[in-house]
Amino acid sequence: MKAYAAVHRDFRISRIDDRLYAAFLEHMGRAIYSGIYEPGHPAADGQGFRQDVLQLVRDLNVPAIRYPGGNFVSAYDWKDGIGARAERPVRLDLAWRSLETNQIGINEFGDWARMAGIEMMLAVNLGTGTLQDAREFMEYTNHPAGTQWSDLRRTHGVEKPYNVKMWCLGNEMDGPWQVGHRTAHDYGRVADETSKALKAFDPSIETIVCGSSNDEMPTYPEWERVVLEECYENVDYISLHKYFGNNSRDTLNYFGKIEQTGRYIQAIGGTIDYVKAKKRAKNDVYICFDEWNVWYHQRAEDKARVKAWDWPEAPALLEETYNFEDALFVGGLLNEFIRRSDRVKIACIAQLVNVIAPIRAERGGPAWRQTIYWPYQMASLYGRGEALAVQVDAPTYDCRVADDVSYLDIAVTHDPKVHMLTVFVLNRHLNDTAELELDITGFSLRAVALHKVMEGHELRATNSPDAPDRIAPVDGAGAAVDGRQLRARLGPLSYHVIRLQLDETAERT
Ligand code: AHR
Repeated sequence: MKAYAAVHRDFRISRIDDRLYAAFLEHMGRAIYSGIYEPGHPAADGQGFRQDVLQLVRDLNVPAIRYPGGNFVSAYDWKDGIGARAERPVRLDLAWRSLETNQIGINEFGDWARMAGIEMMLAVNLGTGTLQDAREFMEYTNHPAGTQWSDLRRTHGVEKPYNVKMWCLGNEMDGPWQVGHRTAHDYGRVADETSKALKAFDPSIETIVCGSSNDEMPTYPEWERVVLEECYENVDYISLHKYFGNNSRDTLNYFGKIEQTGRYIQAIGGTIDYVKAKKRAKNDVYICFDEWNVWYHQRAEDKARVKAWDWPEAPALLEETYNFEDALFVGGLLNEFIRRSDRVKIACIAQLVNVIAPIRAERGGPAWRQTIYWPYQMASLYGRGEALAVQVDAPTYDCRVADDVSYLDIAVTHDPKVHMLTVFVLNRHLNDTAELELDITGFSLRAVALHKVMEGHELRATNSPDAPDRIAPVDGAGAAVDGRQLRARLGPLSYHVIRLQLDETAERT
């Protein structure tokens, strides 16, 4: 197929917030225990943190990490995780029916995040927790010294405050499965008061209020309207969550969920605008898409297992093994986040290690990259700077979740710091190669600096501990700069990252 597209230097969507490539780690399954932390593992440091896992995390250039949950946070007492480890209580985690030993708490996790070079984004418990707990948590983490909670932190060996800037006001409070589930009105009130109290301590922090758990909830999108009407002026972001899958084995429909997600973002954007207008508010509220990923391969089995088991400690849970099709999907979804970066400022892949994650850490064994690691890494490394609007003229298809879906899914970013234009393209066609001509106006193009491609695999092919690199990007061919045009041949079912070096003397700053 022939495909044409155009970008212009002056048609920007937005500056991309680096936190678009954030991640999430929850106390569940083997994400923390035997994921990032496994004392006795050959790759563990003196604190028990696995250095092999840490290196794979560092290579992703993750800017921020949401912690400690998730559903877990709604019955979690942060005070259980501080002080002498031998004295910490073992608790029943009601969300995942598991044993929580509390050997990792805020200070250990703070150490890990520092070693990984990642900023923490903390969630407070608004299920069983109170406003007072949240207030004390902030004083413990963020106040320098001279008060009960800050001095307690110092006695725990942490002299300097963490100065955490991002605070999530609970988790999925619309979900009947949530411990302490609330109505939109109740939750909006509590979120408002909690946010006000946290900001009274430090007005420079940012708070994230819970939107719907997904766009199929019966209360969506009314939940967002009601919640925002209660707290609009006192919050900075509203969260979106969505997990994806291809249970019906319909690849084109699966890929159509990228467009469906765009509609979800647009609907919440409209709701934000409506509430802002109704309240005559001056402040802006943005979207924090703080849980997204593919989650379907063994979702039903896991659900049944959790119901049946008897409080295991760090059980293997939600350990999805991702295939090539999932990697293509994730590449396209990240394109959608780039295209919506005027609204979506933070997005967290859920999760980071073992639990629905790009990194798998075998207990006592190796750490390896899943297929989805690669598109996430390439977007995180190269998708910084500003997003440019792309006009695409390519053949389209209709599917169950969307109509007029372009076979070519394209996002373009410009990073003036390194004088690079990056073109991310997913060719969703099942068997047709695309001949793309991308017109680029307002830049002086030098040459193709990098071309990585993922293609040519069986859709269900996966990586594994024995074949960890079976599916990984390779150098691409068939992309060239011709004057003001990028020409590229894009095989069927392929994901490409093409970086174009710009002439920096001709670049406007
Ligand atoms: O990421 C797994 C779970 O999915 C989280 O705990 C919850 O917030 C969501 O339902």
